[in-house]
Amino acid sequence: MSASLANEKKILRVLRGQSELVPPIWLMRQAGRYLPEYRATREQAGGFLDLCYAPDLAEEVTLQPLRRYAFDAAIVFADILLIPQAMGQKLWFETGEGPRLSPIENADNLSCDSVLTYLAPVFETLKRLSTSLPNDTALIGFAGAPWTVASYMVAGRGTPDQAPARHLAETDAAAFQSIIDALIESTVDYLAAQVDAGAEVLQIFESWAGSLEGDAFERWCVMPVATIIEALRNRGIDVPIIAFPRAAKSHMGAYCAATKCDALGLDTGADIEAIRAETGPDMVLQGNLDPLVLVEGGEKLDSAVRLILDKTRGTPHIFNLGHGIVPQTPPQNVARLIELVKEAGI
Ligand code: CP3
Repeated sequence: MSASLANEKKILRVLRGQSELVPPIWLMRQAGRYLPEYRATREQAGGFLDLCYAPDLAEEVTLQPLRRYAFDAAIVFADILLIPQAMGQKLWFETGEGPRLSPIENADNLSCDSVLTYLAPVFETLKRLSTSLPNDTALIGFAGAPWTVASYMVAGRGTPDQAPARHLAETDAAAFQSIIDALIESTVDYLAAQVDAGAEVLQIFESWAGSLEGDAFERWCVMPVATIIEALRNRGIDVPIIAFPRAAKSHMGAYCAATKCDALGLDTGADIEAIRAETGPDMVLQGNLDPLVLVEGGEKLDSAVRLILDKTRGTPHIFNLGHGIVPQTPPQNVARLIELVKEAGI
C-alpha cells in the first residue's frame, strides 16, 4: 500500500477500490430513534424538521452513534425531503405516520433559486462536523435521487408502490419531466455545496427504484442520477459517490456503467455474488445486511454477518445494512455487529 493510501481514512481507501481485511462499517440511519439519546435531542428540538435545521442539535445527533460505536463514517443528519421544501413545497411530519407534502402535478410552483440559502443550516452542520468528528471517521453527505423524491412530491406522502408518480409520468411525461429537471438542478447545487462544506463522500438514495422497469427505469432513475453525477464531475467535485438503487430489478452492471457511480449500495434482497459478477471485480459494493436480522440479534445475526464477510472477502466492500436501521433495534445488537465485523481481522 502506498504511503498516501495508508494515511487515508479506511472507507475512503475502500472507495478507491482497495479491499480491507476488516471492512469499514457505517449504518444507514445510524442516528435515529433506536437511540434514547436521539429521542431526547429530538424532543429538545421540538420536532424532526426543527432538528434538521438546528446545526448544533443536528451535529449532536450525528455524533451520538459514534460515541457508542466504532463506525468508520458519519452521515450528516438531514432528510431527502428538505430539497422539495427548499424549492417551495410545503412539508411536515405527522407523528407516527411519516412525511406529508402538499401534492404537486408539475414544476410550476417550484423554484431552484433559494435552495442553497434555505439549506444553509445543513451546510453549517457539515462544517461543524468536519472539525468535531474523530480523525479517522469520514463525513458523508447525501440527497435523494430525483425519482424517489418526486414520488413523495406528487403523492404528498410515502406510498407502497409510487402509483401517483408513475401515473403522472405515464399520462403527462412533460409535466413529470419538469419536476425531475428541477430536482436535478437543485440536487447538483445541494450536493456540491455539501462537499464545499466538508462532505468527503456522497450517497444518492434511490429508495423506490424497485417500482420502475425497462424504459421508465432508464428515463426516471438512471438518466437523472447519471446527469447529477456528470454535472458534479464537470464542476470539479471529485469525492466518491455511492448510488443506492434499492430493490432495482435492472442489471446493476449497466446501472453502474450508465451512472458512473463509484460504489453501489445493495439492498437486503440483493444477491451479492450475482451483482459482483455483473459489476466486475473492481466495483465497490456496500450493504446488504437485513435490518430485521439486526433487530433479532443472537445466532441469526452472527451467521448473517459472517456470511456477508465470507462472500465479500478480498473485494472492496463497505459493511452496511440493506436499508435504514429500524427504531426497535436493540442498541446492544449494533455493538455485537461491530464486534463481528472486527472479527474478520482475526
Ligand atoms: O442516515 C442517517 O442517519 C441520516 C439521516 C437520514 C434521515 N433520513 C433521517 C430521518 C437519511 C439519510 C434519511 C433518508 C431518507 N428520508 C430516505 C431514503 C432512505 C430510506 O429510508 O429509504 C427517505 C425515503 C426519507 C423520507 C423520510 N424521512 C421518511 C419516509 C420518514 C418517515 C419514516 C420514518 O422512518 O419515520 C422520514 C423521517 C426520518 N428521517 C427520521 C429520521 C431519523 C425519523 C423521524 C423521527 O425522528 O421521528
